[in-house]
Amino acid sequence: MANEGSFEASQKRSDEIRADLTAHPEKYTMLTGDRPTGRLHLGHYFGTLKGRVELQNMGARTNVLIADYQVITDRDTTDQIQDNVYNMVMDYLACGIDPEKTMIYTHSAVPACNQLMLPFLSLVTEAELQRNPTVKAEMEASGHELTGLLLTYPVHQACDILFCKGNVVPVGRDQLPHIELTRTIARRFNNRYGQVFPEVDALLSDTPLLPGLDGRKMSKSYGNAISISMTAEETAKRIKKSQTDSERMITFDPENRPGVSGLISTAAICTGRNEVEIAEEIGMGGSGALKKYVTEAVNEYFAPIRERRAQYENDFDYVKDVLHEGNKRANEIANQTLAEVQEAMGMVY
Ligand code: TRP
Repeated sequence: MANEGSFEASQKRSDEIRADLTAHPEKYTMLTGDRPTGRLHLGHYFGTLKGRVELQNMGARTNVLIADYQVITDRDTTDQIQDNVYNMVMDYLACGIDPEKTMIYTHSAVPACNQLMLPFLSLVTEAELQRNPTVKAEMEASGHELTGLLLTYPVHQACDILFCKGNVVPVGRDQLPHIELTRTIARRFNNRYGQVFPEVDALLSDTPLLPGLDGRKMSKSYGNAISISMTAEETAKRIKKSQTDSERMITFDPENRPGVSGLISTAAICTGRNEVEIAEEIGMGGSGALKKYVTEAVNEYFAPIRERRAQYENDFDYVKDVLHEGNKRANEIANQTLAEVQEAMGMVY
């Protein structure tokens, strides 16, 4: 599916859309989302949240999904789900997602969206589902068996995207097979029953992936991520504990010095400065001076975001209202789309 050729084609489409977005934001409906498995971190913020806020403020229609049903694709519990969902709403609001402009909702609260799953499942073959490389990788990483839901969750993502007629989906390269499948489903539905769904394109991020503090992939389970919701003190503590190396002279060298370089990248993205310049400035200051600089950079950047977050923590009723309103709106849209689907399929009685 996502071979080199199709990656290049996706990149080209993504660049064209980016160029067109500023001129014609009204042509675009964005849908993207997160699984509520924990707090959002700096990787989410710089990798996608910031971009969502930009699209929102440009005037595109923006929809942000809290993909609660997707949590059980590879986990056996929903213990923390309510807490995670409300905290995710707070992270969004603190980062500048404006519920007046962006619909925030959970897909479990939108039955008509989930009902699209039935016709959509009929449009894909088992072989197509089985060869999705992202599903395979996720199954291996989770150590979980391939459940029916894990196998078919890319179809569920197509429901998420298509119920609101989303036509741009900001994703990383690893999610391209899912976008491809969504395109296939929309095309097959339209061919078989008549035109209902739009052509969907990926909006590929132009910022490089931010590594964790230790230079490895940023992940909650590695303890190398700074959450948006952390206090300045918790941030300082996490950075202090982060592994560097014994060489005093600070240089930016991700290959050979992952720990030092992960810290430098974090400072660079928060200050907008160049990595090599930061490394040279710290020089013989060693990892102590580097960690102090990174801590200040992160805490300074996130101070206003965290201040706003604290206000939402004290106004929990408002946070719930935002989600209830979003869910209400999502139901209206989903009911409308489902009615069109049933009409196209002749299931009108
Ligand atoms: N799979 C995404 C994640 O792992 C969440 C998600 C669910 C999503 N449905 C989507 C993203 C539709 C984009 C489009 O975080």
